[in-house]
Amino acid sequence: METLKTTVAIIGAGPSGLLLSQLLHQAGIDSLIVERTSRARVLERIRAGVLERGTVEGMEEAGCAARLHAECIPHDGVILSFDGEQFEIPVREITGYHVIVYGQTEITKDLIEACEARGQAIYWECPDAVLADLETAVPKVQFTTPEGETHRIEAEIVAGCDGFHGVCRQSIPEARRRAFERTYPFGWLGVLVDEPPVAHNVIYANHEDGFALASMRSETRSRYYVQSAPGETVEDWSSDRFWEAFTRRLGALGQQVRTGEPIEMSIAPLRSFVSEPMRFGRLFLAGDSAHIVPPTGAKGLNLAFADVRRLSRAIITWKDGGQDAALEAYSVEALARVWKIERFSWYLTSMMHQFPEHSGFEKRMQRAEFDYIRSSEAGQKTIAENYVGLQF
Ligand code: APR
Ligand code: PHB
Repeated sequence: METLKTTVAIIGAGPSGLLLSQLLHQAGIDSLIVERTSRARVLERIRAGVLERGTVEGMEEAGCAARLHAECIPHDGVILSFDGEQFEIPVREITGYHVIVYGQTEITKDLIEACEARGQAIYWECPDAVLADLETAVPKVQFTTPEGETHRIEAEIVAGCDGFHGVCRQSIPEARRRAFERTYPFGWLGVLVDEPPVAHNVIYANHEDGFALASMRSETRSRYYVQSAPGETVEDWSSDRFWEAFTRRLGALGQQVRTGEPIEMSIAPLRSFVSEPMRFGRLFLAGDSAHIVPPTGAKGLNLAFADVRRLSRAIITWKDGGQDAALEAYSVEALARVWKIERFSWYLTSMMHQFPEHSGFEKRMQRAEFDYIRSSEAGQKTIAENYVGLQF
């Protein structure tokens, strides 16, 4: 067995783990990354594509923002639609910041390339990481490489960046953590298609048939979604059924949709989830390992980046001065922000979807909410401020 020594053992090479290693490196702190799956699998995942200003700043701090600045699509607003009626919230006018559209897949690629360019050790395809001694000054991670070699990392800190299904949260004894969860009675069917987007802005639509979302990846590639029923799979959705549902839910704008053969179709469930606290001894959770938001509002990656920026600063301060206070504050401070983002994602999800259990009363509440926001500067300001990203 080989023993590897590092300051921070990072579990997971998703956006959280990669950004953390890059930010630590900028501050002269070394790390090792252990990832369950292959580099190719990590690079092919398709996720949301709307970036908060803090996320763009995170990429800038990491020295990885050149392609993002060159290729991103800046938006001035976001469109809400209810039974075919639409209006735009002028996010830039209200907040002074653009909404930035740039795929999470591209963020991951930029971060992997930056890590590799400086020789960062990333152990791909190591699915059996086991954490130990987390409440000591030398926490350990043991894992097996694809070649069958067992490695043991001796670190000062373990960063749990291994997503919702990872091992890190599970390594906290059950008596020392608490989960808060809501699952929603629907999923999102996502389609990627090489056709120009139907509108320049992102559109969130609530229609009596269900939710629809029009987003994009470039001027020639669109990312569209519709609400699907619980238990439905991609096999239940032909591309014809998708286009029919999607165009109907967008109202008049639906007639302008350029349909085509999807290059990807997938269904994701919707859930809100938070595990408290985000620290156990020298283990710190960041991103999806600690919390999940439903994708309405595109907060998953943004929230993960806010955690990671906070954690990197805490580690840097701790290494500088040797004080534990910075590390001790991490969980409480991160969770305060996490719950605000959970609230916004839950709120937008609640307002924009058809819930099977809703009576006429709830439907009229949704309609009243839409009408209020359309007619109120204050209502639009609160959505714009959250959409572009709360300060952290
Ligand atoms: N050991 C090592 N790596 C693991 C393990 C494990 N036991 N379990 C999971 N992983 C890896 C996954 O394969 C994945 O590459 O951890 C990574 C976690 O990445 P994400 O799930 O993408 O989570 P995170 O990096 O926190 O990114 C935040 O924003 O848009 C949202 O949910 C979306 O990916 C998203 C996220
Ligand atoms: C996307 O572009 O995939 C996207 C945009 C906005 C969302 C979710 C996903 O709220």
